[in-house]
Amino acid sequence: MNESTFPGTEQFPSPAQPIAPTVTQPAAPPQPQRNLTPPDNYAEMPRPTAKLTAEDLSPVNDAHGPRNKIGPTGRPLPHLPVPQPPTKTGPAQVIAMCNQKGGVGKTTTTINLGAAIAETGRKVLLIDFDPQGSASIGLGVQPHDLDISVYNLLMQRDITPDEVIRPTRVENLDLLPANIDLSAAEVQLVQEVAREYTLQRVLEPIIPNYDVILIDCAPSLGLLTVNALTASNGIVVPLECEFFALRGLAMLTDTIGKVQDRLNPKLEIVGILGTMFDGRTTHAREVLDRVVQAFDERVFHTVIRRTVKFPETTVVGEPITTYAPSSSAATQYRDLAKEVLARCPAG
Ligand SMILES: Nc1ncnc2c1ncn2[C@@H]1O[C@H](COP(=O)(O)OP(=O)(O)OP(=O)(O)O)[C@@H](O)[C@H]1O
Ligand SMILES: [Mg+2]
Repeated sequence: MNESTFPGTEQFPSPAQPIAPTVTQPAAPPQPQRNLTPPDNYAEMPRPTAKLTAEDLSPVNDAHGPRNKIGPTGRPLPHLPVPQPPTKTGPAQVIAMCNQKGGVGKTTTTINLGAAIAETGRKVLLIDFDPQGSASIGLGVQPHDLDISVYNLLMQRDITPDEVIRPTRVENLDLLPANIDLSAAEVQLVQEVAREYTLQRVLEPIIPNYDVILIDCAPSLGLLTVNALTASNGIVVPLECEFFALRGLAMLTDTIGKVQDRLNPKLEIVGILGTMFDGRTTHAREVLDRVVQAFDERVFHTVIRRTVKFPETTVVGEPITTYAPSSSAATQYRDLAKEVLARCPAG
């Protein structure tokens, strides 16, 4: 597939067309090597990875047991250490699941990464920061039944986090639920002093009580998401491995840059996560190759494959790690937990 037929990258500049020299014109001087810095230059990138050989793909058996040499992202798979049980609780790493594109796996990742980290013995809080209330539904809480939610915590000074946070059926996993009320906060917060710091302020007292706090952002880059980024020290960007995945990433990295400059210098991209990956299609592999070229080591080695198990977990209201604990989907989120904890040690 050539550049012009790669949907999802049309917004990025196409490589300049060389102008054919005429007899009267001197030949164009050789173009200097361009420094390819993500994320504006996808279109100019050379085609990805050399073909892998059968030997690259064959499993190895080393000191860490049997494993594949090359992972789904086309890079050598590192050994991911099993997280040791924590020695203490807190202060929490706060990580926002962020991508303004809808339906890319933010909520699925928040719930299942959270549950996989909780399995390691760490105290985890999930914050549903989307008025759709999907993370709450995914953990068996009906948003319309809530008397009190993250909205009240943000807008009413007399409400404390303990009044809103509730345990889930998963050990070590708590939930700060949301419902449609939260959409009003987006409007009401505009009039507040230091409006971007509202979530950070309300979370401050509970940072020592958790090892990891995961925030499920809404599919927008509005004030709620800016609040989530300001309250976080890390971002995980779930990216669906399909045609339009790269669209809008420039806007997301621009917003992240602005938040880093103006509101929260400690914010970092923990990693970019390929989701809904179907390794049987060349297309999904091409998208992942592009993402690896652009973001290199920031792309997680773990990818989450497409499976009907995830929609099923939403229906039953529990994470994959308890619904189908020995499924490959559960293993993928446990691997992701290992990578996240290796990148941001917690507990
Ligand atoms: N790996 C996967 N394989 C198959 N289906 C998946 C996978 N991950 C998520 N889904 C399904 O895709 C849909 C969208 O996922 P999810 O709600 O996690 O995305 P989102 O980014 O949070 O969406 P929104 O932007 O609306 O908040 C859901 O129905 C979910 O069950
Ligand atoms: Mg969601």
